[in-house]
Amino acid sequence: MKKIVLFVIVAMLCLSGTAKEGMWIPTLLEKYTIEEMQEMGFRLTPEDVYSVNQRSLKDAVVIFGTGCTGEIISNKGLLLTNHHCGFSAIQSHSSVEQDYLSDGFWAMSQNEELPNPGLTAKFLERMVDVSDSVFAGTVSLEGDSLEAKLDANILRIQQQAEEDGKYEAVVKPLFYGNQYFLYVYQVFTDVRLVGAPPRAIGKFGGDTDNWMWPRHTGDFSIFRVYANEDNEPAAYSEDNVPYKPKSWLPVSMEGIQPNDFMMLMGYPGSTRQYLPSQAVDMIINQSNPDRIKIRTAILDIFSEHMKKDPKVRIQYASKYAKTSNSWKRWKGEVRGLNRLNAIKQKQAYEANFELWYLQSDTLEQAYKSVLPQFEKLYVDLLPYDKAYNYYQEIVFKGIDIFKLADFFPRNDKGWNRLDEERHQLVRKALILKMTEYFDDYDQETDQELFTELLRLLRSDLDRSFLPKEFTNLLAKYDDEKLIRKVYEKSVLSDPEKLQELVADFDTKGISKLQKDPVIELYNALRVHYQQNVELVYQSIQDRITDVQQQYMKGIMAMEKNFQLYPDANFTLRVAYGKVEGYQPRDGVEYAYQTTLQGVMEKYQLGNPDYEVLEKLKALHKTSDFGEYGIDGQMPVAYTASIHSTGGNSGSPAINAKGQLVGLNFDRCWEGTMSDIMFDPDQCRNIMVDIRYVLFIIDKFAGAGYLLDEMELVRE
Ligand code: ARG
Ligand code: ASP
Repeated sequence: MKKIVLFVIVAMLCLSGTAKEGMWIPTLLEKYTIEEMQEMGFRLTPEDVYSVNQRSLKDAVVIFGTGCTGEIISNKGLLLTNHHCGFSAIQSHSSVEQDYLSDGFWAMSQNEELPNPGLTAKFLERMVDVSDSVFAGTVSLEGDSLEAKLDANILRIQQQAEEDGKYEAVVKPLFYGNQYFLYVYQVFTDVRLVGAPPRAIGKFGGDTDNWMWPRHTGDFSIFRVYANEDNEPAAYSEDNVPYKPKSWLPVSMEGIQPNDFMMLMGYPGSTRQYLPSQAVDMIINQSNPDRIKIRTAILDIFSEHMKKDPKVRIQYASKYAKTSNSWKRWKGEVRGLNRLNAIKQKQAYEANFELWYLQSDTLEQAYKSVLPQFEKLYVDLLPYDKAYNYYQEIVFKGIDIFKLADFFPRNDKGWNRLDEERHQLVRKALILKMTEYFDDYDQETDQELFTELLRLLRSDLDRSFLPKEFTNLLAKYDDEKLIRKVYEKSVLSDPEKLQELVADFDTKGISKLQKDPVIELYNALRVHYQQNVELVYQSIQDRITDVQQQYMKGIMAMEKNFQLYPDANFTLRVAYGKVEGYQPRDGVEYAYQTTLQGVMEKYQLGNPDYEVLEKLKALHKTSDFGEYGIDGQMPVAYTASIHSTGGNSGSPAINAKGQLVGLNFDRCWEGTMSDIMFDPDQCRNIMVDIRYVLFIIDKFAGAGYLLDEMELVRE
């Protein structure tokens, strides 16, 4: 009887997160999800999605740069990703005379494509479950010796798979270290910019529309992967040729319909679906509100100065976008978790977990200590979590001059060990850093951040988390004095003096910097943080990780008859759902698709977020949509019920036949809690319709020649 009750509870809990939740391991589709995918309309086999023996979809999906996904769309290595993923590459080729961000960029032939030093495209050769090899010889070990053995095993597996540098190999834990997978990549380093729409298309809606539906952004850019004459990765060279990929995605001209099966393949970065209630409580009631409060202060200061000075508007555009992106997501996350009653749901799940081990055999009694340990550890963590977030957001990310301070050598020990040749290299690096820094720096803005954020740091943190040097300073000086005595006296706020100091930088420079008031303050904060915050914070986190691993193991045992997916960890995943809109609020129904009509409706003269270019207006006015439009409309973006997260940007949206129909770039505001808890009613991912991409390339940019190398399919 008890067993039956338990089964029903477990079944109910699992059903509440229906089919569309989950980011699945592509090698395990056969075991877990293929049946349901096919029921929903998918016509391919697991082998078509992932195979090492034949050409499969996985060969066309890459890691673009360090945090995005991209896909190959021609047999000549043409790569599609988001505009916001290609942003820094596009920006790096832009100048006042040649502003590709504002005007867009289109290579009209291969020799106009622009190289991007440092940018990579990583192709997955294979992924394998290596749990047995990672755990080999660890049964009797504990603590540090266990860690050491695991690390040694992992290192050996990686080294073997690298084949003397031919591949990049990395072993990553899944399910909090209850399983390990090896990922082997071929890394291409010659990736060139082919095309990008103007910001008014690629970033239409700006930060105002970010994380929101209905959306009208043409968030795409195009690159090309180059290889040497043997079709292998090679550093940039004029002799390189377009890479001939194993596979590329056919591009569908057919469009989408509501309820169509839709799949994302890509690299979701990080989710935390298996947290205990205490962690969710901390996020809702402390971590997110703290970080939101600090970033609200930062964004207010940014806007004030950006409004006042057009130069600052350009300088701080990217900082603003970066700061506001997570700020807005954290707000949505709190709202979404509260709406879901997430803490209560987690508590109910934990009660169930308790019931399970109490009723199970003696073996499961091992899980008895898990929940009480969480209870205690999160109480311990709470004050350190606060201090950690304040230091991160204020000292290490918020105030620019501290970032510059961090870049200089701290003492002459390291310096004296280097020879003159190295000294020259360091000087060069410092000058480069300085130049980059001052390009996007406005003293007035940063000074205001400096006083405002330091005030927050002092008023909100317990004294024990703050160094005396700092509290004394703030007790003694008002804002104006603080700026005069610390900020303006620092050589770091004076580009000319700093230039002099850096030009013949040596031990004299180092001792001078050690007495610099900003550097002194920064060092006091940094050292106090390391000794009084980070150390304890990290050790509690380490213990939490151990308990979380145990909890995860228990969950896996308890739910062994159900499908579980591992949290995202920036490895290749498959997620699926269907094309559908949603009801964000009572009485409001959102359609699944937007069109160019909506771009025109959002247009606002003088608002940079809603600028519309004349050429686009003209195409709209004459309904000159070519074969990309349908029924007199030009589709722009659409939503589906697919579980996605940061890193999924640029992921291909693939239809039932394995063809490219869209490009993922965001999630809707009401569903941003999906990193922690998924709600099938509210969580929607947002994609650009591939027909809009083709329309912009062909009709707007006149780069239709690029379509010739694609495999356009009309059925
Ligand atoms: N919210 C999307 C993501 O997390 C897009 C961010 C870029 N766009 C922006 N307006 N900041 O990456
Ligand atoms: N915009 C995100 C990205 O850049 C995607 C998301 O969080 O939904 O990866």
